[in-house]
Amino acid sequence: MSLYNDNPTLDNLAKTIDQSKQGEVLVMDKKSGYEKHFYIESYGCQMNFSDSEIVASILAKEGYGSTRNMEEADLILINTCSIREKAELTVRKRLRVFDKIKQNRKGTLVGVLGCMAERLKAKLLEEEKLVDLVVGPDAYRDLPNLINAADDGEKGVNVFLSREETYADISPLRLGTNGITAFISIMRGCDNMCSFCVVPFTRGRERSRNAFTIVSEARDLFEKGYREVTLLGQNVDSYKWENPETKEKVNFAQLMEMVAHVDPLLRIRFSTSHPKDITSDVLYTMKKYDNICNYIHLPVQSGNSRILKLMNRTYDREWYMKKIDEIYSIIPDCAISSDMIAGFCTETEEEHQDTLSIMKYAKYSMSYMFYYSEREGTLAHRKYEDDIPLEVKKKRLSEIIELQNQISKEVNTKDIGKTFKVLIEGTSKRSDQDFKGRNSQNKMVIFPVKEGLKAGDYVLVNITEANSATLKGNIVE
Ligand code: SAH
Ligand code: SF4
Ligand code: F3S
Repeated sequence: MSLYNDNPTLDNLAKTIDQSKQGEVLVMDKKSGYEKHFYIESYGCQMNFSDSEIVASILAKEGYGSTRNMEEADLILINTCSIREKAELTVRKRLRVFDKIKQNRKGTLVGVLGCMAERLKAKLLEEEKLVDLVVGPDAYRDLPNLINAADDGEKGVNVFLSREETYADISPLRLGTNGITAFISIMRGCDNMCSFCVVPFTRGRERSRNAFTIVSEARDLFEKGYREVTLLGQNVDSYKWENPETKEKVNFAQLMEMVAHVDPLLRIRFSTSHPKDITSDVLYTMKKYDNICNYIHLPVQSGNSRILKLMNRTYDREWYMKKIDEIYSIIPDCAISSDMIAGFCTETEEEHQDTLSIMKYAKYSMSYMFYYSEREGTLAHRKYEDDIPLEVKKKRLSEIIELQNQISKEVNTKDIGKTFKVLIEGTSKRSDQDFKGRNSQNKMVIFPVKEGLKAGDYVLVNITEANSATLKGNIVE
C-alpha cells in the first residue's frame, strides 16, 4: 500500500493523501528486559514499514529492544525513501536532528537504511559525517555484523542487491500495530521500468517469496487475533513462485486463494496492482471469496496515451479504460484507487485534461497524487527534459487533487443508505465514543461504540453520512 505525502505546499488540499505515515516512529508492543535499544523512523511506502519490522526482528535477536525516545537509543535508524526529491530532503533534515542527539550521547550509532541508502551508497558516508551505517533493502541480515564493526569505530556499508533475498524465514516483529491489521510482504523489487521511477534501482530485481511462508505468516497472525492482512509488493499481480520440490507454480490468484482459505474471518487485501498485470483470474478469485476485499489500487499515472508511452507504462488510455470496465462488470461494488503524476516531461495542457477525464471515468474512491520529480539515473532523466515549470506542475496537481476530492465525495455520497460489513479497528481518533473500521472497499467508517463489541469484531453498519474521506453510520442489529 502506498503511503506517501511530500507535496507540503499542497498539504491542505491533499486530504486524500493524508494517510501518509511519513516519519512514523515504530515501537514494539512490550518493552522490557533489553539492555540496548534502537529507535527507528520509517519513510516511504508500506514496503519500507514492513521492512522495518524485519529489521526489528533481526535486532531483537541481537538483544535490542525498541524505544520511542531517540535520546535513550544506542542505535538510531532511519528507513528511507528516494521516490521523490522531497522524500530525500526530509531524511537529510532528520539526520541533522540525530546529529544533536549523537553529540550529547557518545557511542550512539546512526544508520541509514532503505532506498536512499541503496541509491547513494558509500557517498552517504562522505556527505553525512554522522552516519555510521548504510544498509540497502536486501542487506538487513548483515546488520548485526555492521553494528559490531561500527561499535569498533569502523563505518559500514552493505548495499548488495540480491536476486533471492525475500526474508521468507524471518517473522517480522510487529511494530506500532493495532493488533487487527497487518502487512505481509509477498515479493520484493520490480522488473518494470517505468521511466520516472527509481524503485527498480533501489530495490533491485523482482522476486517472489515462498508461498507457504506467506500462508503460515497469515495463519500465525490470525491465531494472534489479527483479522486483516494486506499482501504487499510493488507489482503483486506478477507474483510467481515455483515450489522447488514439486515444481508446482503459484501465481497471484492462486496465492490469494491459499490465503483466503486460512479462515473466512481473515480479510485479504493487496497492493499494488500494475494495470498491465492484473488478470481476469484475479478478479474472479476476488469475486469468489467473500473475505477478499473488493478494492483495487490500480495506479494510472496519466490519462494520456502519449505520456503513458513516455512513462513506459506499457498500456494506453483505451486499454486502461477497458480494464476499469472489466473490473466493474465482474465486481460491481469494487472500489478502485489510483496514483497520478502531474507535469511529466513534455505534458501539454490538453494531455493533462486527459488525466482529469480518466479520473472521472474510473470513479476513483481515492488517489495518491504527485507532481513529477526527476530522479537521477532513471530513463526519463536520461532521455527527456524535465521541462514543465514547477508552478505549472503545482497548478495541474491542485486541479487533480480538487477533482479527486469531488469524485470521492460523490462516490461516498452514493453509499448513504447502504449497509456494509465493517471490521472494527479500534476507537476513532476524535472520540472514544466512536468506533472506526473499514468496509470491504477500504473506506473508513465511523459509528457509535456499542457495548460488548471490540476491535477485531465484524459489524453491519448502515451509512447515514459521507464526506470525501469517511463514511458515518450506525450499527444495525
Ligand atoms: N509500484 C507501484 C508504485 C510505486 S511508487 C506502482 O507501480 O504503482 C508510488 C507512486 O509514486 C507511483 O505510483 C507514482 O505515482 C509516484 N512516483 C514514482 N516516481 C515518481 C516521480 N519521479 N515523481 C513523482 N511521482 C512519482
Ligand atoms: Fe516504479 Fe513502475 Fe515498478 Fe511501480 S511498477 S515500482 S512505478 S517501476
Ligand atoms: Fe518505497 Fe520509496 Fe523505496 S516508495 S520502494 S521506500 S523509493
